[in-house]
Parts: sequence; C-alpha cells; structure tokens
Amino acid sequence: MPKPRLLIARAVFPEVIQRLEACFEVDSNQADTVLDATQLAGRLGDKQALLSTAGDVIDEALLARCPSLRICANLAVGFGNLDLAAMSARGVVATHTPGVLTETTADFGFALLMATARRLGEGERCVREGQWTKWSVDFMAGQDIHGSTLGVLGMGRIGQGVARRGAHGFGMRVIYHSRTRLSPADEAALPARFVGMDELLREADHLVLTLAHSAATHHLIDARALARMKPGATLVNIARGGVVDEAALVEALRSGGIAAAGLDVFEHEPAVHPGLLSLPNVVLTPHMASASRATRLRMAHLAADNLIGFFETGRALTPVPAPALSAPA
Ligand code: DGY
Repeated sequence: MPKPRLLIARAVFPEVIQRLEACFEVDSNQADTVLDATQLAGRLGDKQALLSTAGDVIDEALLARCPSLRICANLAVGFGNLDLAAMSARGVVATHTPGVLTETTADFGFALLMATARRLGEGERCVREGQWTKWSVDFMAGQDIHGSTLGVLGMGRIGQGVARRGAHGFGMRVIYHSRTRLSPADEAALPARFVGMDELLREADHLVLTLAHSAATHHLIDARALARMKPGATLVNIARGGVVDEAALVEALRSGGIAAAGLDVFEHEPAVHPGLLSLPNVVLTPHMASASRATRLRMAHLAADNLIGFFETGRALTPVPAPALSAPA
C-alpha cells in the first residue's frame, strides 16, 4: 500500500523527520520559508496529512483547496490558527501538543515577569549603551515580586505552573480567573483563590495571561480592563497576542496606567506594534516561551506521534479537545 503523503510546513528536527519517513511520503519545508496561504495550499495539494505550526492558518479556504487532508497536527499547544468548525465539518482531525511544554513555558513566564517587574531589559540596555554613570537611590527601582499578589488569567496547565512558582518560590498570594474553576483540592495545593475578573484586575500586582485566544477572549485586555489595573501593576502575556488590545496597552504604558509589560506574543507577529518598540517599560521577546531544545523536540515528537497513531490505529493521541474554543492552555 502506498504511504500517505505528509507536508511538514516548517523545518523540524532531522530525527523527527526520520521517524515520519518510516510511515509517510514526506515533503518537509526544511528551508523554513514562511509559506503564505496560497503557497501552503499549493504545497499541501492532495496530501493527506499536515504538520503545522502556530503561524499556519488552517481555514475553510485552505481546506477547500486541499480536500484530501485528513489530519492536521499542530506543533503547539495553542490552536487559534485552526478553524476547528471548518475542520470538523470536513472531517479533518486536529491535534496539538499539550503537557510536554508546560514547565518550560511556565519557567519562561516567570522569567518574563521578573524581567518586567525588575526592569531587567532597561538595566541591560543602560549598561550596554554606556549610560550607567552613577548609582542613585531610585535608579532602576522596580516592583517587588516576593510577597506581592500574582494574578493568573487562564488556569490551565501553564497557568498552574506559573501560580505554583509564584506561591512556592516567591511567597506570592495567588488569585486567578479562568473559564473552568480548579477543584478545592487543587486550589488548596497551589494555593490559589478563584476571583471574578474585576477583582483579578483590581488586586493583582502582576497579571500573567495564560488563556487561549478565541473569539470570546479576543482583546479581553482592552482599555477598560487596563484602566481597572493598579498603576504600579505589570502585565505579562505568554498566551496569544490577540488577547490584548495592543494600541490600548501602548496608551496605558505611556500614560502610567500600568507600570510595565512583558510580551512574548503579539497580535500580528512577527510584526510588533511600533508604539511598543519605543517604550522603555516593555520587555519584548520573540514567541519563545516553549523554546528549550528538549521541549521543542518533545513537541515535535508528539506531533509525529499524533500523525503516526492516526494512520496506524485510526486514533490520534492528543486531539484538540471539544468543545475547544476557549480551552485554556
Ligand atoms: C504553543 O505551543 O502554543 C506555543 O505558543 C508555541 O507556538
């Protein structure tokens, strides 16, 4: 029997390709060029399987041009790039990579929180640029992490990882808001207290976003939400750029509505809102929260497991949960 045909949309590790080649006729974009919608559809053609990344949009227009597609394995835990309704209507299975990146991503979320609150980026730039001329009592004075209130919006695996680090490592008081409330035992183990959105915004000294992006959460952090935060608060986004209204954030950071922001994800990445680039009180990183080599390798292997499992047994290992539209990461 001929092997099913697979497109790997972006470069992946050679050992993962090797595994996939045992089961598929593989076309891999090892040149790692970013394919636009037309290029992606053209290259996918009549292949049955796709290994996609968070930047590849899988929507009705693409599915209509690629009717042989049976499974799309997304190399990411997030799946906002997949039109699940269109995929389900056409019987295309969607999978993602939950679990394997939780701790690495939570580590990074905490690193970004610390860098933002303690002005690490500003300090580093100041030294490199030769601007450090003297010590002053309020020079580079930022916000404390230890003993402060950590707000987590979206208490999935990654949110819990950030909360655990805050509570156990830094003695933070943790409050959270999420689509799904944790069990009393899980809340007690962190510990974390469930609060309404208003209280979360009002009380958090540091607010970390770890919720999924969907129509329901698009621009959830808008001008109104930002206005309800403390003037000394920091905002950290390791979820998806679309959760934050970037223009409103620029305004809040400019006017002192909040103190600082740490952003790993952007509304139109890799483009960054020009207003953010010119502000000193923002730490900007290139969507790298899950980027340790070991974790990225685990993610790629899990995507491969999904593809292989689907064609060998008819069942994918980690399908996107249904209903998924606002499931936290
Ligand atoms: C994820 O897994 O969703 C990360 O953000 C990488 O895209």
